[in-house]
Amino acid sequence: DLFNTNAAIVRDLTAAVAESCPKAMLGIITNPVNSTVPIASEVLKKHGVYDPRRVFGVTTLDVVRSNTFIAEAKGLDVSKTNVPVIGGHSGITIIPLISQCTPPVSFPPEERVKLSTRIQNAGTEVVDAKAGAGSATLSMAYAAAEFCKSLIEALNGQEGKVQCAYVRSEETEAKYFATPVLLGKEGIEKNLGMGKLLDVEVNLLKAAMPELIANIQKGEQFVGDSK
Ligand SMILES: NC(=O)c1ccc[n+]([C@@H]2O[C@H](COP(=O)([O-])OP(=O)(O)OC[C@H]3O[C@@H](n4cnc5c(N)ncnc54)[C@H](O)[C@@H]3O)[C@@H](O)[C@H]2O)c1
Repeated sequence: DLFNTNAAIVRDLTAAVAESCPKAMLGIITNPVNSTVPIASEVLKKHGVYDPRRVFGVTTLDVVRSNTFIAEAKGLDVSKTNVPVIGGHSGITIIPLISQCTPPVSFPPEERVKLSTRIQNAGTEVVDAKAGAGSATLSMAYAAAEFCKSLIEALNGQEGKVQCAYVRSEETEAKYFATPVLLGKEGIEKNLGMGKLLDVEVNLLKAAMPELIANIQKGEQFVGDSK
């Protein structure tokens, strides 16, 4: 199944990174990201080389989708639209913060709920549309490229590079949580946190937590069980 196959790949590749290139920046896009980031982190810890500033779950695609859907709905230029997305990277753990969109946008409550739900289910929408021929590929590559470009620019000394990413976090009771992070020469320079949420966003957050925490525990357990 997807979990065991991908979990083992991430575990083994991370062990190779820990041995050969322990200071690498690790951008993990392999699903389920909610669990593969804890897996990579536990493996790095086992090797004594874990630096939480250097491990990222790539959730950029959730931001790309949010920007696209909101720009379409409001007739905005998508390249100038930016919606932070927090939480995790599957289903209800994906929390778009439409209230923090740049430029500011407003929607009637039902439309906001519909948009949030579409963003959360966008991966499934692609899987269904491809009807057995796989999942999102080009958009994933675009999102990965955007994240990596930002990170490389920050490593090269450009200031002010911010990306949402799923990282080790103290923001909530979940050990790993996506928020906007400021990138710098050593990886995460500062976690910018989730800012102020609307009540409806607080409710999305509450709904996400049990699944997110369970996904994290599943990843940690996987490494604990692999001797
Ligand atoms: N985070 C995101 O936004 C996002 C979005 C879409 C897909 N994904 C994930 O990205 C991953 C790749 O998706 P895809 O559609 O390109 O899958 P794919 O099956 O088309 O490609 C996977 C590739 O990995 C290679 N591979 C398998 N085992 C390997 C190993 N041990 N070492 C090195 N390479 C190995 C395979 O040969 C294959 O070329 C999946 O885990 C998918 O769930 C993430």
